[in-house]
Amino acid sequence: MSSKEFDIKINGETCSAKTGETVYEVAAREGIEIPTLCHDTRLEPAGACRVCLVEVKGQRRLEPGCAWKVSEGMEVTTESDRIERHRKVLYGLYLADHRLDDDGFPVETANDNQLRRLANETKPLDLHPVDAPRVGRPEDVNPYISFDPDLCILCARCTRYCDEVEAVNAITLSNRGSQTTIATAGMRGLLDTTCELCGGCIDTCPTGALVEKKSPDRLPADARKIRSTCNFCGVGCQLDLHVVGTNGDGRVVKITSPPPGETVNDGNLCVKGRFAYDFIHHEDRITEPLIRGEDGELHPASWDEAIAYAAEGLLKVKEKYGPDALGFVSSSRCTGEENYLMQKLSRAVYGTNNIHQCSAT
Ligand code: SF4
Ligand code: SF4
Ligand code: FES
Repeated sequence: MSSKEFDIKINGETCSAKTGETVYEVAAREGIEIPTLCHDTRLEPAGACRVCLVEVKGQRRLEPGCAWKVSEGMEVTTESDRIERHRKVLYGLYLADHRLDDDGFPVETANDNQLRRLANETKPLDLHPVDAPRVGRPEDVNPYISFDPDLCILCARCTRYCDEVEAVNAITLSNRGSQTTIATAGMRGLLDTTCELCGGCIDTCPTGALVEKKSPDRLPADARKIRSTCNFCGVGCQLDLHVVGTNGDGRVVKITSPPPGETVNDGNLCVKGRFAYDFIHHEDRITEPLIRGEDGELHPASWDEAIAYAAEGLLKVKEKYGPDALGFVSSSRCTGEENYLMQKLSRAVYGTNNIHQCSAT
């Protein structure tokens, strides 16, 4: 379909739009806020939560702004008494089936509960609570992800992420009515499924129903967020390190991805980037070069000393046994450029083709 540019009106203002765009996308570009819960820019619109309903002139019903495609001359209203009434009922229904705090608002977990923020902005209808806790699944063995079905609004962001981005379909919506829940095949724990423990379902969950097991329930107010680059492989994914404590004594207590659209990894991380940060503060971590001395013990050395020692040792092996007695293995943490230099070192400096990279498949 060829892309055509045209004008639409949102709240009486003329906005330029393109074929294929949704009302939400045009509004976001124009700085007009439409609340969402089930929307994630990485996923196909599902229209599941009904939080983003807007009035479209000529349509009898309210329509989901996240999924409704724009057309030439369309007139949209995002704030009105009718929409306000709809939101009060909708949030009331969500709250009737949600774990609430003492003040009657959705509880916060380690991750933001966006329903809490929305319910705070609109006085929801006070409805009789649903007295039927949803079923969960056993997750005692999996070390990283926990699921609280009583905080789940069934927006299906997690299941769609698992399908559309991670492409493993480890989780799905299951059961009916008040028993509907996020399930795995046979209600097995995640370790017994195709789950890759990427944690993307945690990241996309808008209510904190899915959270990291490793990080604290709530980060202290003075926790800092530091942008860094993952060093587990050469892709260069960006990370946000959540650090508690002052400089020199700071500890990484959680890792998240920068929001989708901001960095090369588009909000995604793998299991290592998201969860494998214990090594940073591990007591066995090597933090400086070491050379084994005549006494058989390892002793701290400068980088220049360590590199000269290794080069001399490699040369001695080559002189005594020939270049093919040597083998070079480069780390999967290296970039493409570093791997190129490694094979140069192996082939051009020491004269052997015995070069391997440990993430080769
Ligand atoms: S951790 Fe990743 S693979 Fe596992 S259920 Fe969540 S999104 Fe799917
Ligand atoms: S666990 Fe979170 S992302 Fe998944 S359906 Fe429930 S609320 Fe939505
Ligand atoms: S954000 Fe549009 S229906 Fe959920």
